[in-house]
Amino acid sequence: MEKLKSKVYKLARENMIKPEYYFEAHGVPVAKYSKRNAELFDANSFTCEMGGLLHDIGYTVDYNPERASHIERGMEIAYSVLTKAGVPSDYKNRIIDTIRTHDDNLEENSPLENRIVHDSDLLVFYDSIPANMELLSGFGASPGKSISRLKAEADKKLPWINMEYFKGVAKEKHAQFLANLGAVERMVNNGSFKR
Ligand SMILES: [Fe+2]
Ligand SMILES: [Fe+2]
Repeated sequence: MEKLKSKVYKLARENMIKPEYYFEAHGVPVAKYSKRNAELFDANSFTCEMGGLLHDIGYTVDYNPERASHIERGMEIAYSVLTKAGVPSDYKNRIIDTIRTHDDNLEENSPLENRIVHDSDLLVFYDSIPANMELLSGFGASPGKSISRLKAEADKKLPWINMEYFKGVAKEKHAQFLANLGAVERMVNNGSFKR
């Protein structure tokens, strides 16, 4: 399993656009957090870790939202990455399904692993303002624009939290996120924000 995992990590990094953000600052933390939560809830840890790692793999080097959403594209790339790494089909299908249901696409009877990856993704988002700022400004957005986009994203994601267990912590993280973002905003306004 460890060998399979390290192959998937390597292939995932190679496929992603801006890997220092989408991979290192987002995919890897979501993978670790999903794995820890899988242990907490007695879910399948391999499925959760790999789903967490690959959920945003649709942001690839050739990502084009006009052709396919990052979810559709992500499911295709994950299939080829998991196949290349030699992950058995049963796992492959379960992992790809966690990609399909992330970003508020869970269904009534979605498996626990899907719920864990889904909520872990949102909670990690709230922990990473600097990475998100860098990412948005890397796509040409000004700091002011990045801040207002991040505020909107943060508010949009809060009601998406699915598992009762995470609702309280998500609320706290959301409030902390807005407070931290407010501090960044003040720095931008008084000219002390540097990147
Ligand atoms: Fe996503
Ligand atoms: Fe994500």
